[in-house]
Amino acid sequence: MSRAFYVSTPIYYVNDVPHIGHAYTTVAADVLARYRRLRGDDVFFLTGTDEHGQKVEKVATAAGETPLELADRVVTRFQALWEKLDISYTDFIRTTQERHKQGVSHLFEKVLAQGDIYLGEYEDWYCTPCETFWTETQLIDYKCPDCNRPTEKLKEESYFFRMSKYQEQLLAHIDANPDFIQPRSRRNEIVSFVKEGLRDLSVSRTSFTWGIPVPGNPRHVIYVWFDALANYITGLGYPDASGAFGGYWPADVHLIGKDILRFHAVYWPTFLMAAGLPLPKKVFAHGWWTVEGQKMSKSLQNVVEPNMLIDKYGVDAVRYFLLREVPFGLDGDFSHTALVHRINSDLANDLGNLLSRSTAMLSKYFGGVVQAPGGLTDKDFTYKTVTEEMVRQVERHLEDLAFSKALQSIWDVISAGNKYIDEMAPWTLAKDPSQKERLGAIMYCLLESQRIVHSLLAAFMPSTAEKALSCLGITDTGGKDIFAWGGLAAGTTVRKAEPLFPRIEEKEE
Ligand code: MSP
Repeated sequence: MSRAFYVSTPIYYVNDVPHIGHAYTTVAADVLARYRRLRGDDVFFLTGTDEHGQKVEKVATAAGETPLELADRVVTRFQALWEKLDISYTDFIRTTQERHKQGVSHLFEKVLAQGDIYLGEYEDWYCTPCETFWTETQLIDYKCPDCNRPTEKLKEESYFFRMSKYQEQLLAHIDANPDFIQPRSRRNEIVSFVKEGLRDLSVSRTSFTWGIPVPGNPRHVIYVWFDALANYITGLGYPDASGAFGGYWPADVHLIGKDILRFHAVYWPTFLMAAGLPLPKKVFAHGWWTVEGQKMSKSLQNVVEPNMLIDKYGVDAVRYFLLREVPFGLDGDFSHTALVHRINSDLANDLGNLLSRSTAMLSKYFGGVVQAPGGLTDKDFTYKTVTEEMVRQVERHLEDLAFSKALQSIWDVISAGNKYIDEMAPWTLAKDPSQKERLGAIMYCLLESQRIVHSLLAAFMPSTAEKALSCLGITDTGGKDIFAWGGLAAGTTVRKAEPLFPRIEEKEE
């Protein structure tokens, strides 16, 4: 039976249009989903949009739209980008959908009914210009720590979630499941935060209306993070356990950015504990991108627009760059120079050249027909072994979400291929008819190694891999043995490959 695998991205706010930060998480999730499907797993990949809350309401009002009009307009921007980026999601959830609203209401009611949500009063120090509540200890001389203006003590009726009750249970869970929060350094941050003491959390608001009403008390809307986090189960049909929810929950991994880790590693697990549901197996927080050394921001006008990048460099180059350039989990810097460098050196030179050289040689020496490999020499055997080892390494690295290491392992084999050609000098053997069988075996090793390389790359660069595999005469790109040596059948006709990536002139913008 195939193994269920559930991966999610955050759901993106519709008060902003997509940028490379959003594309980054979504591409990473897509690579995992595609890889798992290639391995034969039964994958559910969820993404979507976060459409409620005060922020969205404000931006809509400023734009002279209703919040739903704004959401309807912006959601198409996300969906069009995901199509252009070859994102293979299973479902796209919008928090304004009926299925989501019903699931959230159910979750809220359940936790309320058992007494872990109660009605109380929010009493804290409020900074009106910043619209932020502060605790007394956060204030500096009773002034707002952000803007230094006077604050006032405000009371607001609010529902609270008894988060404090789950503090020890959460710590025990984190302790017993060392892989639950990743990377490690972030896990330690969360542990310290929880140990400082969890306060009960306000989970409703009365100061605005754009949200899901609290069941039985519609003066309140449910706090946007309670609403948003629940998407991971409502997207599977919660509370109905007879379908996807029963089959895929708990999630294998929630991919998120480091700024929203606390919500995913503290709030969400405690909500789930209160509802008696299992916790996600892993929450992985990746780093942030800066742009040419600076924070990406609207005011600096340096927001990197993924559509523009794709039009200029191609979808697979962008997908490759995002995951190769920076170890997942660390911050990274985006620059056009770095992207062009990766395209020219890794994609055009290493990957593209190897395929062009080897398919051109097969075409010249054997009319493009793959020969049955006779006996392998030590050198052939070494090349075969590193290829097989790569498959195991990629599996391990992707298990750890180490995308750049996985790509590095693949590129080690690509380099080994280019070196193998130089060492074997097929052009010399081709001059000696008695070496025909030997030449056939070398060509076999070269092409078979690349078949496996491209079978793996199908997760990272789907259209490039499809092009390459089609040159190699492979039409069936699925099946559980695609990563095993020997898949390329003797007698297969291989086409001479066009360059996979044209070189880009490196000039200053
Ligand atoms: N709506 C919430 C998430 C709710 S999930 C239940 C939200 N949305 S967001 O649109 O503001 O951000 C979504 C993701 O984009 C976050 O994971 C955030 O880390 C990521 N990024 C935003 N800017 C980024 C960079 N500059 N670099 C990398 N990722 C960035 O938060």
